[in-house]
Amino acid sequence: MKVLAIAGSLREQSFNRGLIRAAQALAPAGMEIIAADISDIPLYNGDDDGDNRPAPVTALAEQVKAADALLFATPEYNYSIPGVLKNAIDWLSRVPGGIFAGKPAAIMGASMGGMGTSRSQYHLRQGWCFWMCIRSTNRKCSSLQPMKNVMRMVTCRTRQRRT
Ligand SMILES: Cc1cc2nc3c(=O)[nH]c(=O)nc-3n(C[C@H](O)[C@H](O)[C@H](O)COP(=O)(O)O)c2cc1C
Repeated sequence: MKVLAIAGSLREQSFNRGLIRAAQALAPAGMEIIAADISDIPLYNGDDDGDNRPAPVTALAEQVKAADALLFATPEYNYSIPGVLKNAIDWLSRVPGGIFAGKPAAIMGASMGGMGTSRSQYHLRQGWCFWMCIRSTNRKCSSLQPMKNVMRMVTCRTRQRRT
């Protein structure tokens, strides 16, 4: 199973990028978690979409297409999704053929705040359900069980390190 992990933070010392590294370390045999790099994705400009789509966007779209599942690790910025992540999703959502449709996906997030990125996760999920047709892990789907297990392990390890 090939999982493409996308972090909503570009920061070198990002907790959310750390979550993805933890997931990579904990992935069971048969699961490969690839960390996407969204740092070169330019700001969305409709004039550059279509035939002029920037190379980093095309490369990320190919990674999404090749993945069996997606894993998002996102911080919360001002009660919502960080702009860098929204921007990447905006580009990807315009790729012909609906590359997200039916793709199983899960969200996790790390934050110093008490709400633990819940509002950001909620906003991310809203776009999935009503527009991009991403299949969220809270729906029954046995093929997602290995990914849920990894997320559970990441959460447990993170809690252990805090205490
Ligand atoms: C612009 C900005 C807005 C933020 N807004 C929130 C917020 O609404 N809720 C929250 O819990 N944390 C908020 N934070 C704190 C981030 O959750 C925290 O910086 C987190 O460590 C960022 O994730 P990272 O470590 O992966 O970069 C905000 C941080 C920034 C830079």
